[in-house]
Amino acid sequence: MKVTYIDEETGTVFLRLTDGRTAKISGVDSDALEKGDVIFSSGGRWKQVSNDAWPRSLHVSVVRDILENGTILGEFGSTLLPLSNPEGFPVQKNATVEVDGASVIQRILSDQPIRVRLHPSDEDVSPASFLFKPKEDGLTFDDFGGYRDVVARAKQLIETQLERRAELDEIGARPIKGILFTGPPGTGKTHLARIIAQQSGADFYDISGPEIVTKWVGDTEDILRKIFEHANKSEAGKAIIFFDEIDSIGESRAGDTHESSRRLVAQFLTLMDGFDSSKNATIVIAATNRAEALDPALMRPGRFDWEIEFGLPTVVDRWEILKTGTRKISCAADLPLWDVALRTHNWSAARLSSIWTEAALIAAGDGRKLIASEDFAQAYERVARRPERSKVRARRDD
Ligand SMILES: Nc1ncnc2c1ncn2[C@@H]1O[C@H](COP(=O)(O)OP(=O)(O)O)[C@@H](O)[C@H]1O
Ligand SMILES: [Mg+2]
Repeated sequence: MKVTYIDEETGTVFLRLTDGRTAKISGVDSDALEKGDVIFSSGGRWKQVSNDAWPRSLHVSVVRDILENGTILGEFGSTLLPLSNPEGFPVQKNATVEVDGASVIQRILSDQPIRVRLHPSDEDVSPASFLFKPKEDGLTFDDFGGYRDVVARAKQLIETQLERRAELDEIGARPIKGILFTGPPGTGKTHLARIIAQQSGADFYDISGPEIVTKWVGDTEDILRKIFEHANKSEAGKAIIFFDEIDSIGESRAGDTHESSRRLVAQFLTLMDGFDSSKNATIVIAATNRAEALDPALMRPGRFDWEIEFGLPTVVDRWEILKTGTRKISCAADLPLWDVALRTHNWSAARLSSIWTEAALIAAGDGRKLIASEDFAQAYERVARRPERSKVRARRDD
């Protein structure tokens, strides 16, 4: 314990424990101790020990702000805590300081912010950095097997919204702002969005929910706002803002969701409500594996009122998904694709695609440059034996 104050009159010594709690002992000889001394106490007895015994540095914090009343706010991961500065160090905003377990500043480590994770002011984040850059040999709709109704619906909604503004206005239709892609993991939600990014000719902002939440701790709201503003002035005249795994930010506000994620959803809703999609054709597409965890407020009219459901593939879908693999892979002509499609009830598109990876390993391991029928059959066996990472319930029948 460290002596923080001595009341000479009553002989009471006030102390602070290493974890920030306080204590006092009375009846101490007034000259025995002075402020700042460190004592060790056990079983009602105490003795003075070297000041080095005090655990000085437990945490490092970056000073986020100093309020007018002098309160110093330090950043610890994604939280802010008031720091105390009894020694009166010349602390400035953005300095990196060492603090003990009771958030008392021990020394200044640097005038610069030193953080585990990047922070938007450390590295200037521009909304343009989220723009998807189309590639020469990028994905096409032919890379998406099966799910004909899903693809047709997505194309129709997006194309009409982006290309047929005048007609929609004439008709007096309310513009579509948000489309939600839902379905179990590995059913191609991200894959289809990537294809749309490549093919739509719109400015496509590719935002990963988990990344934006963890990487830009505390500043996500600012970034979201900038992206919406940027999209509204898009050069292409049409924009798509894609939020992958939106459940990471849009989790139901009921229950004990973290305060910051609650704020983020509120901010997101304000942005959705605030942007005028008729000025500059803009749509927001969001994908989630857990539609049931989403805040119902996101689904209100004028927000994500269109949902496209990616169920598990039917047998024909599975066959077509397997066939997309043959587009870029060197393989024999007689692969048992249909046979495998029949045997893979309840498999996701991602799991089906992993047969190709496995088949390539087998063929290459054997020194061959072409996948043979046996390789494919053997690869299927291997993937089938592997436990599935997450069991999901079938949504479609075959
Ligand atoms: N319809 C499809 N046709 C071909 N390959 C697909 C299809 N859907 C998914 N895949 C493959 O499975 C992988 C995982 O799919 P992904 O889009 O990430 O699933 P989700 O986002 O729904 O969890 C993709 O990278 C792609 O290789
Ligand atoms: Mg995905």
